[in-house]
Amino acid sequence: MDETVWAIVVHGGAKTIQPDTAEAHRRGCAIAAEAGAEILRRGGSAIDAALRAVRILEDDPTFNAGQGSVKNAAGETEMDAAIMDGKTLAIGAVAAARRLANPIEAAAALLEAPAILLVGEGADRFGYNIGLRCIDPASLPASPVQSPGHDTVGCVAIDRAGHIAAATSTGGLEGTLPGRVGDAPLPGCGFYADDRIGGVSLSGEGEAIARCLLGSRVMRAMENEPADEAVTVIFEPMDRLAAEAGVIAIDAAGRIGIAHNSDHFALACASSACPGVISAIHQNELKVSEPDD
Ligand code: GLY
Repeated sequence: MDETVWAIVVHGGAKTIQPDTAEAHRRGCAIAAEAGAEILRRGGSAIDAALRAVRILEDDPTFNAGQGSVKNAAGETEMDAAIMDGKTLAIGAVAAARRLANPIEAAAALLEAPAILLVGEGADRFGYNIGLRCIDPASLPASPVQSPGHDTVGCVAIDRAGHIAAATSTGGLEGTLPGRVGDAPLPGCGFYADDRIGGVSLSGEGEAIARCLLGSRVMRAMENEPADEAVTVIFEPMDRLAAEAGVIAIDAAGRIGIAHNSDHFALACASSACPGVISAIHQNELKVSEPDD
């Protein structure tokens, strides 16, 4: 691995973004990507960069994660999050957590634990016991400023040592049954990372993404194709299931890939080839650079 190469890409959900919130989506993604990029520029780890970026997106009520999480059919908030270290294949994930201010922090703490996924009360209790900030779910905004189809946030990063991390966080889909868990905390569905191949983070209709193991399909494609070509494998299965999804990916050479079939996909990225952050609400707004450009 060329130690000058680093890259980060974040997303704020595959959905329809109303014009009056477009700038908030661009700005929120840009702030998160810049915070992660700052870690990577000075030689920090991909895990730290992904954790920092997703934590910032969780704190921004523009996005359906953490503070901005939507309500389920019972009017409650249940959040899922996951992070994966492509160096060790360690995974940390939480699902249906109700009290964690930043579910991604609990997921990151699980990277060091034997368990890879804690759900519900167990996830909340784990976070509380290790000193993470907990909230009263009733104190979350009743109607976060959201766009229809609001969805997951995520990040993929590669650091100067060639290590790759992927992360996701979501409040799930609005109005679903209590206890429902989507793709975001499931490896090979909403995320995956392997230093030998690359990393992916997805957004969209969790049941459809899980049914066709969409994350693993992108990973398999990246074994033979650069990230920008591999991500296009999402279109056929999403067409078949009449579902919406978006994906961000970085391959082992540091190339970025982005694809979505939703109206919009809030994004921001930066890399050693293009160190300044660029953000967008549609993939066509971005010219993604090669690391050697
Ligand atoms: N993609 C997030 C969810 O379906 O829960």
